[in-house]
Order: sequence, then structure tokens, then C-alpha cells
Amino acid sequence: MNQIDAAFVKAFLENWQQKNETIELDTIAAHPTTIALNGAEIPQTAQVNSRYGRFLYHLVKQFKPQKVLEIGMANGVSSAYIASAMATYQPESGNHTIIDPFQSTDWQGAGKHLLQRLHLDRYTQLIEHYSIHAVTQLEDAGKRFDFAFIDGNHCLDYTLADVIVADRVLNIGGLIALDDSMAYGVNIAIPYLDQHRPNLRRILLDPPAIHWLREKWFKRRRITIYQKIAEDTRGADTI
Ligand SMILES: C[S@@+](CC[C@H](N)C(=O)[O-])C[C@H]1O[C@@H](n2cnc3c(N)ncnc32)[C@H](O)[C@@H]1O
Repeated sequence: MNQIDAAFVKAFLENWQQKNETIELDTIAAHPTTIALNGAEIPQTAQVNSRYGRFLYHLVKQFKPQKVLEIGMANGVSSAYIASAMATYQPESGNHTIIDPFQSTDWQGAGKHLLQRLHLDRYTQLIEHYSIHAVTQLEDAGKRFDFAFIDGNHCLDYTLADVIVADRVLNIGGLIALDDSMAYGVNIAIPYLDQHRPNLRRILLDPPAIHWLREKWFKRRRITIYQKIAEDTRGADTI
């Protein structure tokens, strides 16, 4: 697995508009509608934009996780960027597990349909269950992951619960990425994780001065990434 750091982000920001590996996905991400599993055209909401999607794609391309866990699928746009990078760069060994309890109901199967349409479904496994149950079942089944992308329920307690369960199935060296870092409860979870989760080391995506400005002054940070550097050994009697 390669390093994801400020140099990676700098190179991405300098080049992302020139990259042409994801043109079809970029068009899909920008489209106001998508297609439900029953073929109906429905509005497309909640998805990552194409710049963010390209970032996820290049993160997977660069970091080369063998097993990816994704929480929160909606219309399947982030899933498609991740699965597409897995299909291109790890066609034999890559595997992507996606969790969303509302895929068939709220999202009318649009995420499933998108992956089928793009022939990416063979690299993915969808579990339609709440993340805390689904990931715990994966842990019980002995599954391990190298990258967890968390974009499910953004309330503080659900975000922390997702981090807890994801950390328990993450290999050491693996990454946990949180979407919407400066919004909802995620905004509260991150300072807690920064201070009280020594086994998860924040990857600085900018040089220190820009990092400070972006987070403390402008409060603009969409994705936050941690690397698991050890197992969690804090025990029960701590903060
Ligand atoms: C912002 S959307 C995800 C967007 C998607 N990652 C993308 O960029 O294309 C959040 C998703 O989380 C799902 N969700 C809500 N609560 C959840 C839970 N407890 N476990 C897993 N997914 C959940 C919702 O159904 C919704 O699809």
C-alpha cells in the first residue's frame, strides 16, 4: 500500500482536471437524475461531486487497498468511483463491500442499478442493513479491510459507532475516511478522534499552515482520513 499524504493531495489538486480516466463517472456524478432499479428516472441527490469522486478514485489507485468497506451508498456514485478504481487496478484481488439499509427503499435500487450498468457489480457486495449490525457481522465472519469510506448516518453517535466498528475490521496500516467532516455530528466526532484515538493517526492533507487555516478559519474540509497505526488498547476506563 502506498502513502496518502499532503504530497499526494498536492499532486491531485494540480492534475485532477487533466485526468481522463473517469469521464463517464464524472458525467454521471453531475447529472441531475439517475435510474432506479425498475428503470424509472429519479432525481439524483446526496452524491459526491466529480472532483471528490476523482479523489476517491485516485486514492484507491494510489493506496491499492485489497478490500474496501463503504458505509452509505445512496445512488451509488461514490461506490462507482471506488469500484471502478478497484476493477481497473486490482481486477483479480480487489473487493468492495457496501452497506446501506435504505438502498431498496429510499434509493429505489439506483445504486445497485448504477453498478450493474457499469459492470462493476462483480467487484462489489451490497449489504442492506444498518452499518453497526452489518460491520459487526462482517467482523464475526473474520472479514478484514484496508480502506473504510464512511458516509452513512452523520449524527455524532452514529459516526462514532461507524468508526468503532470500522476500526475493529481494519488492518493495521489501513485508512478510514470520513465524508462531510465539517458538518452535522461528524464535525464533533473529528476533534474527539484526533485527541482520544491514539491508534488512528490523522493524515494531514495540507501543509501545516494551510491545514490550520482550512480547519480553524475557513472551516472547509470535506474529507478527513485516518491511518490505523495500532490496535485500540485503551481499555474501558478512559475518555
Ligand atoms: C450522503 S448519502 C451517501 C452518498 C454516497 N456515499 C455518494 O456519495 O454517492 C448517505 C447514505 O447513508 C445511508 N445511511 C443512513 N443511515 C445508515 C446506517 N445506519 N448505516 C448505513 N448507511 C446508512 C443512507 O441511506 C444514504 O444512502
